[in-house]
Amino acid sequence: MLPRKKAITPHHFDQTELPWQALANAVVIQAVNDYRSFTRMLRRLQKKIAKVGTLSDDERAYLRIRIDYYSYQLREVRSFFRSEDFALYPVKVRSNAIRTEKRDVKAVDDISFSIGRGETFGLVGESGCGKSTTGKAIVRLLKPTAGQVLFEGRDIFAGKTGDDLSQKIQIIFQDPYSSLDPRFTVGRCIAEPLKVHKVGNRSEQEARVRSLMNDVGLRPEAYTKYPHEFSGGQRQRIGVARALALNPSLIVCDEPVSALDVSIQAQILNLMQDLQEKYSLTYLFISHNLAVVEHLCDRVAVMYLGNLVETAETETLFCHPAHPYTRALLDAIPVPDPDGPTMRSTLEGDVPSLMNPPAGCCFHTRCPHACERCRLEKPALQEKGDGHLVACHLADKL
Ligand SMILES: Nc1ncnc2c1ncn2[C@@H]1O[C@H](COP(=O)(O)OP(=O)(O)O)[C@@H](O)[C@H]1O
Ligand code: SF4
Ligand SMILES: [Mg+2]
Repeated sequence: MLPRKKAITPHHFDQTELPWQALANAVVIQAVNDYRSFTRMLRRLQKKIAKVGTLSDDERAYLRIRIDYYSYQLREVRSFFRSEDFALYPVKVRSNAIRTEKRDVKAVDDISFSIGRGETFGLVGESGCGKSTTGKAIVRLLKPTAGQVLFEGRDIFAGKTGDDLSQKIQIIFQDPYSSLDPRFTVGRCIAEPLKVHKVGNRSEQEARVRSLMNDVGLRPEAYTKYPHEFSGGQRQRIGVARALALNPSLIVCDEPVSALDVSIQAQILNLMQDLQEKYSLTYLFISHNLAVVEHLCDRVAVMYLGNLVETAETETLFCHPAHPYTRALLDAIPVPDPDGPTMRSTLEGDVPSLMNPPAGCCFHTRCPHACERCRLEKPALQEKGDGHLVACHLADKL
């Protein structure tokens, strides 16, 4: 199982733009899943290193690095759970070493928004604020514990898995590397939804796949190749073709370009815009890149700690942001202007843990305007006019 494609490495912890709680959560989820692999791996490595005489210097150095790496991950888990007696190095394998306490995490809490037909609706916010969870609920990959997702007036969770609604709502994933099955040829990857939903016979499916490949700019010879033979951008084209296979009307695009090189991102975004026009698609565009969102989206919703804090037309949101969090996010967009201001207001402090969210306004622990009321009372989303909704007690005064 290890090394994992998306393993958390010490390097991730150096990236200050990622809130450490989100990382800690990710590490915990990963560690709970992978704890046995970590410890098995460590034991194996330690056994090997014990035979130190039979190893070359390079091998020994390599093994030490691996041990440090796995130990590091376990150390993060340990500090998260504050389990004092967790013997780390050398590792004692104990199945109950990680004591997980069952607690509810509200990754998304009481949010509501609507997306118009043909619209590109942006969902923005820092990592870990619940964007993907929202997107996954909309494509039925996650079932919310309460509430409804209505599509064309129908509750998507009322129907059966595999019904026509699930064909009409598709998803493009963030990571084109892990969202394609490496055992399948490109043709098979794109045809998969057609096979699952039993659409057409084999030759009809092949014809459909070939026409989709043409739509997304893949050469015909790609049909029999495997995903690993392609670059990131080409792989995302495969992901886009797969999402289009069932003629959906709504596509959830979960950070579709953030795993790609900057030079490739624009190509994929342009392709998505062309396809939207051609097939009258509606996009829920999830991103933490505000510059891309400003360029692509008609309306934008800003999320913080599982809550919606502001929704508005893109121009309104970018020119007249009303929520302190939105303002801080916009201030953080880098401006390539050497004469521009060097001091920018940036967010201070960490995102609070979802396991212990703050009372009152979810943003009060980091808000420069927080007052007593903010600590006690949760602000409701209120309309400022023209569909501009803001959840802040001081929205009219700031
Ligand atoms: N199955 C789960 N169990 C516990 N926590 C989860 C689970 N899924 C997501 N989370 C947590 O919920 C938060 C929101 O996750 P996500 O929707 O992926 O955020 P985003 O896409 O905005 O980065 C994260 O802090 C994540 O760690
Ligand atoms: S309600 Fe208070 S803490 Fe929350 S964003 Fe508004 S001013 Fe800040
Ligand atoms: Mg996400």
